Amino acid sequence: MKRLSVLMVSVLFTGCGQADLPVTTSDVLPTEVADRLPLSSPRTFGFGGEATDERIAMWDIDVKPDGEGLPSGSGTVAQGKLVYETQCIACHGATGTEGPFDRLVGTGPWEEWPSARVVGAYWPYATTLFDYIVKAMPQLTPGTLTADQTYAVIAYVLNMNGLVADDAVMDATTLPAVEMPGRDRFVPDDRKGGPEVR
Ligand code: HEC
Repeated sequence: MKRLSVLMVSVLFTGCGQADLPVTTSDVLPTEVADRLPLSSPRTFGFGGEATDERIAMWDIDVKPDGEGLPSGSGTVAQGKLVYETQCIACHGATGTEGPFDRLVGTGPWEEWPSARVVGAYWPYATTLFDYIVKAMPQLTPGTLTADQTYAVIAYVLNMNGLVADDAVMDATTLPAVEMPGRDRFVPDDRKGGPEVR
C-alpha cells in the first residue's frame, strides 16, 4: 500500500510535465465539484504566454479616424507588393479577390455581398487599416510587421483597390488624407428606440 501511494505521487508529479504544476482540484474548486473530479489537475495547460510589457505594447495601439495614434514610418506601393506577396497572398489571393479568406479588393457594386463589402468599397476610414492590420494580420503571426511594412502593405492594398496611385507613399500624414468611397455609406445611429426604429 505504501509502495502504491509512492507510485501514485510520482505519477501525479511526472504526468504533468512541470514540477510546480500539480495542485489538488480542491485548491481551486468548491469541494463538492472537486470531489467528482480526478485527484489532481494542472494549474496551467502549457499554452499562452506571459503578458510582457513588450507584448502589451504590441496590442496597445489605437488609431483614430483622423490618424491620431499612427506611428512614424512610411511605405510605398512597391514595397507593399513585396510584403503582400510574402505575407498575405496565401490567404487573400494574388489580386486580393480570390481568397480563400476575406476579399480585400472590391469587384462589384458596393451593396453586393460579399464581392464589394471590402476595404476599398466599404471601410469608411483608411486609418482603420493600420489599427487592424498591425494587431490582427498576418493572421497566424500578428504583431510581426514593422510600422514601415504596415504602411507599405496598406499602400499596396489601397492601390489594388484603385484608391492611391502607383507612386503613393503612406505615412501618418498621407494615410488619413486618403478619401475612402465608404466614407458616406455610414450614418451616425442616433435612434433612441421606439417608433422611429425601422
Ligand atoms: C493565415 C491566413 C491569413 C494571412 C496570412 C493574412 N490574412 Fe488577412 N485575414 C484572414 C482572415 C481569416 C480574415 C478575416 C478575419 C475576421 O473576419 O475575423 C482576414 C481579414 C483581413 C482584413 C479585413 C478584410 C475585411 O474587409 O473584412 C484585412 C484588411 C487583412 N486581412 C489584411 C491582411 C494583410 C495586409 C495581410 C498580410 C500582411 C494578411 N491579411 C494576411 C487571414 C489571413
